[in-house]
Amino acid sequence: MEKVEIEKRILYLRKIINDANYEYYVLDNPTLTDQEFDKYLRELEVLEEENPEFDSPFSPTKRVGGEVIDRFKKVRHKIPMLSLPDVFSLEEIHDFNTRIMKENVEPTYVCEYKIDGLSVSLHYEKGNLIFAATRGDGVVGEDITHNVRTIKSVPLTLKEPIDIEVRGEIYMPKKVLEELNEKRKEKNLPLLQNVRNAAAGSIRQLDSKIAAERKLDTWIYHLPNPEDYGIETHEDALKFMKDLGFKVNEKANRVVTGIAEIEEYVKETSLKRSELPYEIDGIVIKVNRLASQKALGFTSKYPKWAVAYKFPAEEVLTRLTDIVFTVGRTGRITPNAVLEPVIVMGSTVKRATLHNEDYVLMKDLKIGDIVSIRKAGDVIPEVVEAKLERRDGSEKEFVMIKNCPICGSILEKKKDQVDHYCMNKSCPARKVEGLIHYCSRKAMNIEGLGDEIIEDFFNLGFVKTIVDIYSLKEHKKDLIELEGYGTKSVDNLLLAIEDSKLNSVERLLFGLGIEGIGDKTALLLAKIFKNIDGFLNASYDDFQNIRDIGPTLAENLYEYFHHVDNIGLIEELKNLGINMNYLGEPEKHHDLISNRRFVLTGTLSFMDREELSALLESYGGMTSSSVSKKTDVVIVGDKPGSKYEKAQELHIEIWDEEKIKGIVDAL
Ligand code: IVH
Repeated sequence: MEKVEIEKRILYLRKIINDANYEYYVLDNPTLTDQEFDKYLRELEVLEEENPEFDSPFSPTKRVGGEVIDRFKKVRHKIPMLSLPDVFSLEEIHDFNTRIMKENVEPTYVCEYKIDGLSVSLHYEKGNLIFAATRGDGVVGEDITHNVRTIKSVPLTLKEPIDIEVRGEIYMPKKVLEELNEKRKEKNLPLLQNVRNAAAGSIRQLDSKIAAERKLDTWIYHLPNPEDYGIETHEDALKFMKDLGFKVNEKANRVVTGIAEIEEYVKETSLKRSELPYEIDGIVIKVNRLASQKALGFTSKYPKWAVAYKFPAEEVLTRLTDIVFTVGRTGRITPNAVLEPVIVMGSTVKRATLHNEDYVLMKDLKIGDIVSIRKAGDVIPEVVEAKLERRDGSEKEFVMIKNCPICGSILEKKKDQVDHYCMNKSCPARKVEGLIHYCSRKAMNIEGLGDEIIEDFFNLGFVKTIVDIYSLKEHKKDLIELEGYGTKSVDNLLLAIEDSKLNSVERLLFGLGIEGIGDKTALLLAKIFKNIDGFLNASYDDFQNIRDIGPTLAENLYEYFHHVDNIGLIEELKNLGINMNYLGEPEKHHDLISNRRFVLTGTLSFMDREELSALLESYGGMTSSSVSKKTDVVIVGDKPGSKYEKAQELHIEIWDEEKIKGIVDAL
């Protein structure tokens, strides 16, 4: 083929692929089969590779991911990216409407879904996507073009060759999060808490391959410069963006006049919410006429022409069909609600913890009750209350068990405590839970030994004790034969087990499951005692003299390290080559982070909490979940909880998002 012909073919292929993408991902109305699409894409890839002079960063072949950046560049927003004032009740929407009418503005609004994701600004020159940025602090964001390019509903080339900036939300569909978490569970990785954090985490990847796999999507809802295009209403701005090829939520957006129509929209949307394939956390109400928006203006933080109505936490009714008991690794017995499956905020709930006997009695729950369920902290289901008016007399009284449901031993309840315990150290349930704990992420972190697999291995007799984990290699042949396994996954598992032998000793210490010793305390102790012999030789007073270790913990530690079974176990682990030493202070140091205690509250837009905790810890900072006098700094994100108030009460240093981000960026 002649060069001109090649170029023509390349342009033609790009158009076909872009159009097909648009029809599939924006209009949800595919025109090509997958095979046809792949065929065109492959042909284009080959032509571009053989003719690099025609390659282009705007080509649809650049969507697949693979571009890796070494840091996020800062981008200053020419027009600040503001957020919206939140309102929580219909009365407050009334107040907003009254305020608008007082200004002699026509009360015609566009109601939209408030998408639960992260906002993005997209910049096009001559119709080509040139960069995409996060909101950041509203004034300065970060360049995330490499990741945004992989989002299929973001056009790389518009239908008109114009210069434009548009804004919208990047989100993760509910189903994608569910699938992702299923995979993470199998791999023993921590679950992503909600769609917002999952989307933000995906966008904050340096390697665009990861974002590409996360199947993110967009809704575009804001045109910062409408006057440049002679547009007079927000409604028309939405239509204009739609016609350029953006994904605009036409089905959801509605022009309304007056408070009654707003209320109707709120009601209808609240009912539809749980069935939507994406998460929304409220409704945005925007004055439609742009001249009126201009007249109303802004406060320092918000536009005065819009509000975000936030839904109350979703509560769903279902039946409590049973209360069953589980046994933890310390022998603690937990009652659990068995529920008729219901969808709450996008995922199916079948179980919820009821903590202990007192909790069930306080809530006056009976088996057969209709109960309301809510997601606390977005992800953990919680039984709110029993609907007493729905009782018909057939409900059964809750009775606390007297014997361990697994081994039958008589349960004990210590004085002044709420929990019941199975005291039988050989109880199989305790053993399995102990093994699960030993392999878990914050303990020995053995990838591939998740809850269900350990239970299977225990039942099959491969792993009855911690020591057996290290002889799994002797069962390699049997393991490969098991359903769902192959040579590769068994090899990976055995490698992960060997690798974990090199862990610093605080992981082992936490993994041993000594009552009351969490991962943070384990680290503190490891720093002090340096190696396992330090623990074996320590006296009760040695433990008690440590700040943070009270008499109960000191007793637990002393007893553990002086019990013949435990001494034997540690000896065996030593012989198996498991590292017994503390491997040193983190190499990294930062004056504002190292050796300080942090508490995180609220959502940060640039990093999820887990990630930030890990980062602080890698610099020798400590993180904990509650604020006390010992806390040095409380980091406060969006929508902080009561920890923020407590920090203020105790006059603890507070860092807002801007401050922590400045520090993180400079690391
Ligand atoms: S309009 C100047 N519309 O909610 C107005 N925002 O609290 C700019 N959001 O930062 C925002 N859905 O991330 C707008 N339909 C929608 C929205 C929406 C979600 C987010 C956005 C913004 C935050 C405001």
